[in-house]
Amino acid sequence: MAINKQEHAQWSSSFGFVLAAVGSAVGLGNIWKFPYMVGESGGSAFVIAYLFCIALVGFPILVAEWLIGRRGQKNPVNTFVDVATSEGKSRSWGIIGASGILGGFLILSFYSVIGGWALNYVTKIATGQFVGQDSDAVGATFDAMLASAGTLTIWHTVFMFFTAVIVGIGVTSGIERTAKILMPLLGLILFVIVGYNVMNGGFGEAVAYLFTPDLSKLTEDVMIAALGHAFFTLSIGMGIMVAYGSYLGREVNLLKTARTVVILDTVIALAAGLAIFPIIFSNGLDPASGPGLIFVSLPIAFGSMGAGTIIGTLFFLLITFAAVTSAISLLEPTVEFLEERTSMSRTVATIVSSTIIWLLGIAALLSFNLWSDVTILDNNIFDALDKLTSKFILPLTGLAAIIFLAWRMDQRSIQQELGLSNGAFQIWQIVAKFVAPIAVVVVFVNALI
Ligand code: TRP
Repeated sequence: MAINKQEHAQWSSSFGFVLAAVGSAVGLGNIWKFPYMVGESGGSAFVIAYLFCIALVGFPILVAEWLIGRRGQKNPVNTFVDVATSEGKSRSWGIIGASGILGGFLILSFYSVIGGWALNYVTKIATGQFVGQDSDAVGATFDAMLASAGTLTIWHTVFMFFTAVIVGIGVTSGIERTAKILMPLLGLILFVIVGYNVMNGGFGEAVAYLFTPDLSKLTEDVMIAALGHAFFTLSIGMGIMVAYGSYLGREVNLLKTARTVVILDTVIALAAGLAIFPIIFSNGLDPASGPGLIFVSLPIAFGSMGAGTIIGTLFFLLITFAAVTSAISLLEPTVEFLEERTSMSRTVATIVSSTIIWLLGIAALLSFNLWSDVTILDNNIFDALDKLTSKFILPLTGLAAIIFLAWRMDQRSIQQELGLSNGAFQIWQIVAKFVAPIAVVVVFVNALI
């Protein structure tokens, strides 16, 4: 049953909204994925491309998704159908909402596997496994975890179970309130690690690696990776921000709120880079070692710094927490959709969707061991899920959202809603009508040919 406008709840304050949006945006994307993608793409070229994509593509699409959601006041599929029909446009815009739900489903399957790794590392660090270990031993511990399908399955299951319980019993807002305390703590520990690195070498090299522009490395592959990651890290291109926008009160200033979310998200990612790369360089590790990067670098520092066991345990706990708040936002749209569109209760909808996601996650984790030879177009299952979502579903869904907003909706009312003067709105329109969509199309076409 579709919720009507009167029944549809609203955020009690714009602060609550920012918390939920930051909770969704800040997650494994910032701390696990960003650094290893930087490493795989050779450093600063990726960072620079990523910053451009965040500012010129991610930011406007985030605003577009909220604005459309606030107009529609429903789940993403119904929102796109309603807003399109009220603008006299085709109902098929509802497909944007549907592709978003599919995207969340696919992302959560592999996201939960990595959430499981983080949980496993909480126990490893808490029991002092890494104390005094050198980089070879830390690397061997990671490889042993990857080689064990059983271990990966257990922790993936625990992570998925937590997420499903939180969504199923509907306490997501309580979790988000807790984020108010835990997220700043996560930021603080990141900076403690950065401080440790300043004292222990590799720092200058890491700063140069991350920020010295080297455009020769700016290849098409790097650009599409950076673009996809801009979507992934801001949680856009999936309809979740459309759903969040539907709970947004009229008084909230979309541009300012988006600026806050984008800045916080970016600062956390860059801090993660400064926490990890100095350790990589001072220990002679390979920056391009892929998804294991934080798991083979950070434990070395925790194993040797004072109070490293406590700081490290807390750090991986907080990463897990950040991952859970993001995972909630990946599961919620599917559950909400099933609840509104079928006769399933919330509990049944949660059990059904999380079981399917869990199974898909098992297929993803087997890529690291038993099924490492199983490939889809040259990618193992884990990489295939990651690439299909980040490189295709998210950018294409986001592209459709910004085209819809900039080319299909009444522009005067958008100007009013954004509270922009004529001059400022012209700049907005150049970005929303041309820069953002063209950037997505160009990068995309280049990646395909
Ligand atoms: N942004 C989250 C992260 O960086 C992941 C995430 C949560 C996401 N919800 C999303 C990505 C929706 C794309 C779409 O970890």
